[in-house]
Amino acid sequence: MNNQSIFIIVFFFSLPLVTSSTYVEIKQLVPTTFTVNKVNSSKIIVGVSWDGTNEADDEYVVGRLHCFSNAMTVLNSPQDHVFGDRNTTYELAVHKTDVLVKCRTGKEDITNWKNVFYFRT
Ligand SMILES: *[C@@H]1O[C@H](CO)[C@@H](O)[C@H](O)[C@H]1NC(C)=O
Ligand SMILES: *[C@@H]1O[C@H](CO)[C@@H](O)[C@H](O)[C@H]1NC(C)=O
Repeated sequence: MNNQSIFIIVFFFSLPLVTSSTYVEIKQLVPTTFTVNKVNSSKIIVGVSWDGTNEADDEYVVGRLHCFSNAMTVLNSPQDHVFGDRNTTYELAVHKTDVLVKCRTGKEDITNWKNVFYFRT
């Protein structure tokens, strides 16, 4: 046998290994939408929604929002949730208007996501 036929034989014997591979179940949390609602010059409400795969509705989830700015203060973070809540709101007290701020929000159980977004106060 020459090298080429050996290669072809090895190739065909290895095919079942490849084609019998299977996807295994994963568990994950994913962000869906963020909203920023200016109630007035001193108050902003940030809305955060999430979804996931193989998460039980009663799974305990921690929600956090942190903003890298002294132009405002996040009033209610961290928060206790269950996965099934699927959304929450954070209240921000605004100290300075028309400032570009960067915030990071996330949800975590044994999996987690973190996401950074910007808005103008
Ligand atoms: C902004 O709205 C909040 C809640 O509706 C209210 O308590 C606060 O007095 C308002 N502030 C101003 C400056 O209008
Ligand atoms: C938040 O979740 C509740 C329950 O799933 C749903 O009724 C509501 O429309 C959601 N709100 C937003 C802003 O996504």
